[in-house]
Amino acid sequence: MSGYRIAIVGATGLVGQTLLQVLEDTGVPVATLVALAREGEGRFVEFGQDRIAVEPLERMDWGRVDVAFFAAGNAVSAQYAPQATQAGVTVIDKSSYWRMDPHVPLVVPEVNGAAIGDSLLIASPNCSTIQLVIALAPIQARFGVKRVVVSTYQAVSGTGRDAVEELEQQTRAQVSGGSVSPEVYPVTIAHNVLPWCDRFGEADYTGEEWKLMRETEKIMGQNLRLSATAVRVPVYVGHAESVYLETEQPWSLEEIREALKTGPSVRIVDDPVHGAVPTPLDAAGQDDVLVGRIRADLHESRGLHLFVVADNLRRGAASNAVDIMRFIGTRRNQDIPAR
Ligand SMILES: NC(=O)c1ccc[n+]([C@@H]2O[C@H](COP(=O)([O-])OP(=O)(O)OC[C@H]3O[C@@H](n4cnc5c(N)ncnc54)[C@H](OP(=O)(O)O)[C@@H]3O)[C@@H](O)[C@H]2O)c1
Repeated sequence: MSGYRIAIVGATGLVGQTLLQVLEDTGVPVATLVALAREGEGRFVEFGQDRIAVEPLERMDWGRVDVAFFAAGNAVSAQYAPQATQAGVTVIDKSSYWRMDPHVPLVVPEVNGAAIGDSLLIASPNCSTIQLVIALAPIQARFGVKRVVVSTYQAVSGTGRDAVEELEQQTRAQVSGGSVSPEVYPVTIAHNVLPWCDRFGEADYTGEEWKLMRETEKIMGQNLRLSATAVRVPVYVGHAESVYLETEQPWSLEEIREALKTGPSVRIVDDPVHGAVPTPLDAAGQDDVLVGRIRADLHESRGLHLFVVADNLRRGAASNAVDIMRFIGTRRNQDIPAR
């Protein structure tokens, strides 16, 4: 059979499962699919009509594949991505381990696909970063962006399957009058809003906030003077972002809409009077970045407000990774690897 020979590291996790779904949805030809996790014994994943046995990562022979998606956390990417690239495998990494390495391209294909160059190791950005740069890029291209302030409303699936389970359990316990004991998050997530994601770091910003600020600047290639506040909300799928930005050039709201329409993956959902606003429930299960609440600031003549929502597991992770693989295939004019 001809097609891509693919490994998914972390195939049993939320991103791994979504990768399987996106590969199936996009219909890219797949000749080999190796599903890897901590342990294999008796575990299977579904891919279309096929049931694929899960294999332990530590026994992987990298000669079996051409492309490996890594979705198993930083420690796994640090240890195994170099082994895979040394065997000639193209690694598309969803962890944050390699993202800020100056030798590793950090890529959202519709924004900076050319950055891939000849690298065999390509980092895919944080989920909040991907939807932000997709929304900012068309405005940046036409009017220049000189300042961004973003507050996120991030779904629990961004933390992985244990967090989804925790929200389910806590919600059930709370509605039935039971008690909750937080484990994944430091405090109760059900019916709550946590004004931080990840650990606190430099200058009292969290790790998630630093990722959003540094990754956006690495991708968009200029100092956007971005400030971020990352917030966790009790939503299962779909990250939302309230974005304020200031541009170099003047614009009308009509021109902003026209610019946004040119952005691949951007869909304007902005008719609040008739109920058309971007929400996580609308974003979940599809690949567009929904942009709405488009309005001018009342005090700053080049100040613009947007509300940006996307499925963190698809657009924010799996679909971006699969798009990187397809971008490389198209660019090398070999959508199907030669072997
Ligand atoms: N969730 C998101 O929205 C999102 C977005 C962007 C990036 N990411 C990143 O993607 C990665 C995966 O996230 P996730 O949400 O899918 O996590 P998850 O649901 O917790 O799944 C983790 C996966 O990694 C595997 N794994 C963990 N340790 C391993 C090891 N030592 N060897 C082999 N496999 C191992 C697990 O296998 P077992 O089943 O055997 O434990 C499981 O398949 C993380 O780096 C995360 O930061 C996530």
